[in-house]
Amino acid sequence: MSEASITRAFPLPAIEELSDEDITRLYSADVGPLPWVRVNFVSSIDGAATHQGLSAGLSGAADHRVFDLLRRLCDVVVVGAGTVRAEGYGAMRVDKAGERARVAAGLAPHPVFALVSASLDLDPSSPIFADAPVRPIIVTTELSRSSTRAALEAVADVVICGRVRVQAEALVRALAERGLGRIHCEGGPHLFGDLIAGSALDELCLTVSPRLEAGEASRIAAGESPIVPVGMRLAHVLVSGDSLLLRYVRA
Ligand SMILES: NC(=O)c1ccc[n+]([C@@H]2O[C@H](COP(=O)([O-])OP(=O)(O)OC[C@H]3O[C@@H](n4cnc5c(N)ncnc54)[C@H](OP(=O)(O)O)[C@@H]3O)[C@@H](O)[C@H]2O)c1
Repeated sequence: MSEASITRAFPLPAIEELSDEDITRLYSADVGPLPWVRVNFVSSIDGAATHQGLSAGLSGAADHRVFDLLRRLCDVVVVGAGTVRAEGYGAMRVDKAGERARVAAGLAPHPVFALVSASLDLDPSSPIFADAPVRPIIVTTELSRSSTRAALEAVADVVICGRVRVQAEALVRALAERGLGRIHCEGGPHLFGDLIAGSALDELCLTVSPRLEAGEASRIAAGESPIVPVGMRLAHVLVSGDSLLLRYVRA
Protein backbone atom coordinates (compact mmCIF):
# COMPACT_ATOMS: atom_id res chain seq x y z
CA MET A 1 0.00 0.00 0.00
CA SER A 2 1.54 3.36 -1.02
CA GLU A 3 1.88 6.35 1.30
CA ALA A 4 -0.73 8.18 -0.77
CA SER A 5 -3.25 5.33 -0.54
CA ILE A 6 -6.65 6.62 0.58
CA THR A 7 -9.67 4.81 2.09
CA ARG A 8 -13.17 6.22 2.47
CA ALA A 9 -14.24 5.64 6.09
CA PHE A 10 -17.49 7.61 5.98
CA PRO A 11 -20.12 7.36 4.66
CA LEU A 12 -20.22 3.57 5.04
CA PRO A 13 -19.49 1.17 3.49
CA ALA A 14 -15.77 1.84 3.64
CA ILE A 15 -13.97 1.76 0.29
CA GLU A 16 -10.27 0.98 0.20
CA GLU A 17 -7.62 2.10 -2.27
CA LEU A 18 -9.59 4.90 -3.89
CA SER A 19 -8.47 5.71 -7.44
CA ASP A 20 -8.00 9.31 -8.57
CA GLU A 21 -11.34 9.03 -10.39
CA ASP A 22 -13.04 7.76 -7.18
CA ILE A 23 -11.62 10.70 -5.26
CA THR A 24 -12.66 13.33 -7.79
CA ARG A 25 -16.13 11.76 -7.87
CA LEU A 26 -16.39 12.01 -4.07
CA TYR A 27 -15.40 15.68 -4.14
CA SER A 28 -17.82 16.39 -6.99
CA ALA A 29 -20.85 14.99 -5.15
CA ASP A 30 -23.22 17.41 -3.42
CA VAL A 31 -21.83 20.46 -5.19
CA GLY A 32 -24.70 22.95 -5.28
CA PRO A 33 -25.55 25.58 -7.87
CA LEU A 34 -22.68 27.75 -9.07
CA PRO A 35 -20.97 29.83 -7.87
CA TRP A 36 -19.62 27.29 -5.39
CA VAL A 37 -16.74 28.21 -3.11
CA ARG A 38 -14.51 25.37 -1.92
CA VAL A 39 -11.59 25.98 0.42
CA ASN A 40 -8.76 23.54 1.08
CA PHE A 41 -6.46 23.52 4.11
CA VAL A 42 -4.18 21.26 6.10
CA SER A 43 -3.92 21.57 9.86
CA SER A 44 -2.10 19.84 12.71
CA ILE A 45 -4.24 18.00 15.28
CA ASP A 46 -3.87 21.00 17.61
CA GLY A 47 -5.06 23.42 14.94
CA ALA A 48 -1.85 24.90 13.54
CA ALA A 49 -1.97 25.95 9.89
CA THR A 50 1.81 26.03 9.55
CA HIS A 51 4.98 24.28 10.61
CA GLN A 52 7.91 26.71 10.74
CA GLY A 53 5.90 29.24 8.75
CA LEU A 54 4.79 26.97 5.92
CA SER A 55 2.08 24.41 5.28
CA ALA A 56 4.57 21.98 3.70
CA GLY A 57 5.67 20.49 7.04
CA LEU A 58 2.07 19.51 7.81
CA SER A 59 1.31 17.98 4.46
CA GLY A 60 1.92 14.40 3.37
CA ALA A 61 1.52 12.25 0.28
CA ALA A 62 -2.26 11.85 0.56
CA ASP A 63 -2.80 15.56 1.23
CA HIS A 64 -0.67 16.39 -1.83
CA ARG A 65 -2.70 13.95 -3.86
CA VAL A 66 -6.03 15.51 -2.90
CA PHE A 67 -4.57 19.05 -3.22
CA ASP A 68 -3.65 18.29 -6.85
CA LEU A 69 -6.92 16.49 -7.62
CA LEU A 70 -8.99 19.42 -6.35
CA ARG A 71 -7.30 21.62 -8.98
CA ARG A 72 -8.91 19.37 -11.58
CA LEU A 73 -12.40 20.33 -10.45
CA CYS A 74 -12.39 24.12 -10.58
CA ASP A 75 -12.52 27.05 -12.98
CA VAL A 76 -10.34 29.25 -10.81
CA VAL A 77 -7.85 28.84 -7.96
CA VAL A 78 -7.98 31.80 -5.57
CA VAL A 79 -5.04 32.48 -3.24
CA GLY A 80 -4.26 35.35 -0.86
CA ALA A 81 -1.08 37.25 -1.64
CA GLY A 82 0.40 36.36 1.77
CA THR A 83 0.25 32.68 0.86
CA VAL A 84 1.50 33.33 -2.66
CA ARG A 85 4.56 35.09 -1.20
CA ALA A 86 5.16 32.66 1.69
CA GLU A 87 4.72 29.47 -0.29
CA GLY A 88 6.51 30.76 -3.39
CA TYR A 89 3.71 30.05 -5.85
CA GLY A 90 4.59 29.79 -9.53
CA ALA A 91 2.22 29.74 -12.48
CA MET A 92 -1.10 27.90 -12.02
CA ARG A 93 -0.71 24.84 -14.19
CA VAL A 94 -1.94 21.27 -13.78
CA ASP A 95 0.04 18.27 -15.06
CA LYS A 96 -0.83 16.40 -18.28
CA ALA A 97 -3.11 13.91 -16.49
CA GLY A 98 -4.84 16.84 -14.84
CA GLU A 99 -5.28 18.59 -18.17
CA ARG A 100 -6.80 15.46 -19.70
CA ALA A 101 -9.16 14.99 -16.75
CA ARG A 102 -10.23 18.63 -16.84
CA VAL A 103 -10.89 18.65 -20.57
CA ALA A 104 -12.84 15.37 -20.31
CA ALA A 105 -14.98 17.04 -17.62
CA GLY A 106 -15.69 20.00 -19.91
CA LEU A 107 -13.33 22.40 -18.15
CA ALA A 108 -10.50 24.50 -19.59
CA PRO A 109 -7.12 22.69 -19.62
CA HIS A 110 -5.85 24.82 -16.70
CA PRO A 111 -7.65 26.76 -14.00
CA VAL A 112 -7.32 30.54 -13.89
CA PHE A 113 -5.13 31.83 -11.05
CA ALA A 114 -6.78 34.63 -9.04
CA LEU A 115 -4.54 36.42 -6.54
CA VAL A 116 -6.08 38.55 -3.80
CA SER A 117 -4.05 41.54 -2.63
CA ALA A 118 -4.61 45.00 -1.20
CA SER A 119 -0.97 46.12 -1.30
CA LEU A 120 -0.29 44.75 -4.81
CA ASP A 121 3.14 43.72 -3.60
CA LEU A 122 3.40 41.30 -6.53
CA ASP A 123 6.21 41.20 -9.08
CA PRO A 124 4.90 41.54 -12.66
CA SER A 125 8.00 39.70 -13.94
CA SER A 126 7.34 36.68 -11.67
CA PRO A 127 6.79 33.24 -13.27
CA ILE A 128 3.26 33.48 -11.86
CA PHE A 129 2.53 35.78 -14.80
CA ALA A 130 5.35 35.01 -17.24
CA ASP A 131 4.66 31.24 -17.32
CA ALA A 132 0.89 31.39 -16.89
CA PRO A 133 -1.02 29.19 -19.33
CA VAL A 134 -4.05 31.46 -18.78
CA ARG A 135 -3.94 35.18 -17.99
CA PRO A 136 -4.21 35.48 -14.18
CA ILE A 137 -6.60 37.76 -12.34
CA ILE A 138 -5.55 40.07 -9.54
CA VAL A 139 -8.36 40.99 -7.20
CA THR A 140 -7.70 44.18 -5.30
CA THR A 141 -9.19 47.31 -3.75
CA GLU A 142 -10.01 50.87 -4.75
CA LEU A 143 -7.28 52.11 -2.42
CA SER A 144 -4.52 50.14 -4.14
CA ARG A 145 -1.92 52.34 -5.90
CA SER A 146 -2.98 53.12 -9.45
CA SER A 147 0.63 53.08 -10.76
CA THR A 148 1.19 49.57 -9.36
CA ARG A 149 -2.15 48.51 -10.77
CA ALA A 150 -1.14 49.78 -14.20
CA ALA A 151 2.12 47.78 -14.10
CA LEU A 152 0.24 44.60 -13.18
CA GLU A 153 -2.43 45.22 -15.82
CA ALA A 154 0.24 44.42 -18.41
CA VAL A 155 0.36 40.81 -17.18
CA ALA A 156 -3.02 40.16 -15.54
CA ASP A 157 -6.64 41.29 -15.43
CA VAL A 158 -7.00 43.56 -12.41
CA VAL A 159 -10.42 43.59 -10.77
CA ILE A 160 -11.53 45.85 -7.93
CA CYS A 161 -13.76 44.22 -5.34
CA GLY A 162 -13.90 46.54 -2.34
CA ARG A 163 -12.53 49.79 -1.00
CA VAL A 164 -10.07 48.83 1.73
CA ARG A 165 -10.23 45.02 1.65
CA VAL A 166 -11.53 42.69 -1.01
CA GLN A 167 -15.11 41.82 -0.09
CA ALA A 168 -15.91 38.12 -0.33
CA GLU A 169 -19.30 38.62 -1.95
CA ALA A 170 -17.87 40.96 -4.61
CA LEU A 171 -15.00 38.55 -5.25
CA VAL A 172 -17.36 35.63 -5.84
CA ARG A 173 -19.64 37.74 -8.03
CA ALA A 174 -16.75 39.04 -10.15
CA LEU A 175 -15.43 35.53 -10.76
CA ALA A 176 -18.89 34.11 -11.50
CA GLU A 177 -19.53 36.93 -14.01
CA ARG A 178 -16.44 35.74 -15.89
CA GLY A 179 -17.83 32.22 -16.04
CA LEU A 180 -15.57 31.08 -13.19
CA GLY A 181 -18.23 29.62 -10.93
CA ARG A 182 -16.26 26.65 -9.58
CA ILE A 183 -14.15 28.62 -7.17
CA HIS A 184 -11.36 26.82 -5.34
CA CYS A 185 -9.45 28.65 -2.64
CA GLU A 186 -6.09 27.40 -1.34
CA GLY A 187 -5.93 29.95 1.48
CA GLY A 188 -4.48 31.48 3.37
CA PRO A 189 -5.98 32.07 6.80
CA HIS A 190 -6.77 35.79 6.40
CA LEU A 191 -8.52 35.27 3.10
CA PHE A 192 -10.39 32.30 4.58
CA GLY A 193 -11.47 34.44 7.55
CA ASP A 194 -12.88 36.98 5.11
CA LEU A 195 -14.71 34.29 3.13
CA ILE A 196 -16.34 32.96 6.32
CA ALA A 197 -17.25 36.44 7.53
CA GLY A 198 -18.70 37.28 4.11
CA SER A 199 -20.83 34.09 4.16
CA ALA A 200 -19.18 33.09 0.91
CA LEU A 201 -18.02 29.62 1.93
CA ASP A 202 -19.77 26.49 0.61
CA GLU A 203 -17.23 23.77 1.36
CA LEU A 204 -14.15 23.14 3.46
CA CYS A 205 -11.73 20.35 2.64
CA LEU A 206 -9.49 19.87 5.65
CA THR A 207 -6.61 17.48 6.06
CA VAL A 208 -5.82 16.78 9.71
CA SER A 209 -2.16 15.90 9.87
CA PRO A 210 -0.99 13.62 12.71
CA ARG A 211 1.21 16.23 14.38
CA LEU A 212 1.11 18.47 17.41
CA GLU A 213 2.72 21.85 16.77
CA ALA A 214 2.00 23.96 19.88
CA GLY A 215 3.63 27.41 19.46
CA GLU A 216 1.94 30.38 17.89
CA ALA A 217 1.12 29.21 14.40
CA SER A 218 -2.05 30.68 12.89
CA ARG A 219 -5.27 28.72 12.77
CA ILE A 220 -6.66 28.07 9.29
CA ALA A 221 -8.97 31.10 9.67
CA ALA A 222 -7.60 34.41 10.94
CA GLY A 223 -8.21 38.15 10.90
CA GLU A 224 -10.33 40.88 12.33
CA SER A 225 -13.51 40.26 10.36
CA PRO A 226 -16.59 39.78 12.53
CA ILE A 227 -17.18 36.04 12.41
CA VAL A 228 -20.69 34.74 12.03
CA PRO A 229 -20.66 31.04 13.01
CA VAL A 230 -21.42 28.85 10.00
CA GLY A 231 -22.87 25.35 10.46
CA MET A 232 -21.26 22.67 8.31
CA ARG A 233 -22.28 19.12 7.42
CA LEU A 234 -19.79 16.27 7.21
CA ALA A 235 -19.80 14.98 3.62
CA HIS A 236 -17.03 12.41 3.89
CA VAL A 237 -14.07 11.18 5.89
CA LEU A 238 -11.10 9.77 4.02
CA VAL A 239 -8.23 8.12 5.86
CA SER A 240 -4.64 7.72 4.79
CA GLY A 241 -2.31 6.27 7.39
CA ASP A 242 -2.73 8.55 10.42
CA SER A 243 -4.13 11.48 8.41
CA LEU A 244 -7.78 12.38 8.00
CA LEU A 245 -9.09 14.09 4.88
CA LEU A 246 -12.38 15.67 5.84
CA ARG A 247 -14.94 17.28 3.57
CA TYR A 248 -17.55 19.58 5.07
CA VAL A 249 -20.25 21.36 3.10
CA ARG A 250 -22.50 24.18 4.25
CA ALA A 251 -25.33 22.76 6.34
N1 LIG B 1 -2.24 25.06 6.27
C1 LIG B 1 -2.62 25.41 5.06
O1 LIG B 1 -3.31 24.65 4.37
C2 LIG B 1 -2.24 26.76 4.54
C3 LIG B 1 -2.84 27.24 3.37
C4 LIG B 1 -2.47 28.50 2.92
C5 LIG B 1 -1.53 29.24 3.61
N2 LIG B 1 -0.98 28.75 4.72
C6 LIG B 1 0.04 29.52 5.46
O2 LIG B 1 -0.56 30.71 5.90
C7 LIG B 1 0.46 31.72 6.02
C8 LIG B 1 -0.04 33.00 5.39
O3 LIG B 1 -1.13 33.43 6.16
P1 LIG B 1 -1.97 34.69 5.74
O4 LIG B 1 -3.16 34.72 6.61
O5 LIG B 1 -1.08 35.86 5.67
O6 LIG B 1 -2.41 34.26 4.26
P2 LIG B 1 -3.28 35.02 3.18
O7 LIG B 1 -4.67 35.19 3.61
O8 LIG B 1 -3.00 34.29 1.91
O9 LIG B 1 -2.52 36.39 3.04
C9 LIG B 1 -2.92 37.59 3.59
C10 LIG B 1 -2.64 38.61 2.53
O10 LIG B 1 -3.40 38.26 1.37
C11 LIG B 1 -4.08 39.40 0.91
N3 LIG B 1 -5.48 39.29 1.30
C12 LIG B 1 -6.09 38.25 1.90
N4 LIG B 1 -7.39 38.52 2.06
C13 LIG B 1 -7.60 39.75 1.55
C14 LIG B 1 -8.73 40.59 1.39
N5 LIG B 1 -9.95 40.22 1.82
N6 LIG B 1 -8.56 41.80 0.82
C15 LIG B 1 -7.35 42.20 0.38
N7 LIG B 1 -6.24 41.46 0.49
C16 LIG B 1 -6.36 40.24 1.07
C17 LIG B 1 -3.38 40.56 1.55
O11 LIG B 1 -2.24 40.76 0.73
P3 LIG B 1 -1.40 42.11 0.62
O12 LIG B 1 -0.50 42.07 1.81
O13 LIG B 1 -0.65 41.94 -0.66
O14 LIG B 1 -2.36 43.24 0.64
C18 LIG B 1 -3.04 40.00 2.91
O15 LIG B 1 -1.97 40.68 3.53
C19 LIG B 1 1.69 31.19 5.34
O16 LIG B 1 2.58 30.83 6.36
C20 LIG B 1 1.20 29.98 4.60
O17 LIG B 1 2.18 29.02 4.55
C21 LIG B 1 -1.31 27.52 5.22
